[in-house]
Amino acid sequence: MMLDALGWQPTAPLERLNLPWLQNAGVEVAILRLDLIDALISGNKWFKLSEHLSLAVDSGAEGLISLGGAHSNHLHALAATGKRFGFPTVGLLRGHAQQTPTVLDLQAFGMQLHWLGYAGYRERHAAGFWLPWQARYPGLYPIAEGGGGLAGALGCGRLRAMLDAQLAHLGWDDYHGWWLAAGTGTTLAGLLLAEAGARPVYGAMAVPEDHGVAQNIIAVLNEASCAHADVKPCLPPGCVLLDASRGAFARTDAALLDFIAASEAQCGVPLEPLYTGKALLALQDEVLAGRFAPCTRLVFVHTGGLQGRRAMGL
Ligand SMILES: Cc1ncc(COP(=O)(O)O)c(C=O)c1O
Repeated sequence: MMLDALGWQPTAPLERLNLPWLQNAGVEVAILRLDLIDALISGNKWFKLSEHLSLAVDSGAEGLISLGGAHSNHLHALAATGKRFGFPTVGLLRGHAQQTPTVLDLQAFGMQLHWLGYAGYRERHAAGFWLPWQARYPGLYPIAEGGGGLAGALGCGRLRAMLDAQLAHLGWDDYHGWWLAAGTGTTLAGLLLAEAGARPVYGAMAVPEDHGVAQNIIAVLNEASCAHADVKPCLPPGCVLLDASRGAFARTDAALLDFIAASEAQCGVPLEPLYTGKALLALQDEVLAGRFAPCTRLVFVHTGGLQGRRAMGL
């Protein structure tokens, strides 16, 4: 049942990240290993889902329906959660039926799949998109693509308390900021809300600027603050976005893949090329460029996504 899933409160371990270019610059980085919270329900996806789940339970729903592509980390975590806690899930997929390692898992986890084609998938933001699906699956609660919006962000805001509870294990009494990959910016928006301006949050964008990460973040922050009638037209000063996309979402190149292989060998942390590898490479660029003074302490969020490596032969 979905209620059982709400009782699951995994903790991601916080570890020191040992890499030579950090040591040379005197910059300390701790990595919050969301990839380690579970073998299947991995990464930021669980935290983005958790508040949606809570809303679904409140609404009396018995299961969840959402959207994604054939490699979607979001659908993978959603399907795995449904299987683990015994509730039905439906996935609406972009494009035409294909078998990827992710799709095979979705089927094995018991998710009911519908392929929308490309034109059908483009309709996902249209008013009335959900109506036929809600008529077909009246007991299922719809979650927007990727588990975004304010609910997704609030679930990610919990990472702040998880970090606070572990700082002392590292011998840290404080930290100077967060560093993480941004796709929609939902996870980052959750950290901005949790920090409330206390520390900066650096977002290494896995998509080019025209994908609207900044607009998404502003929309979430405005949704959160409209109760206080404090609507902001632009990003707060504590939000720093950098283009880490290398030209396009999911585009890889030899330099990135070499960097990932070298980093994994040096620090033992598995990375993938779409989000975490690009985010770490962007951090290296900034550290080498001298953006951070010696003794700066940063928290790098490992947002998971490792299941997606299988389709890339990694
Ligand atoms: C592994 C991974 N990391 C980071 C992100 C980016 O998260 P967000 O969309 O909340 O910015 C995603 C999803 O988009 C993801 O799957």
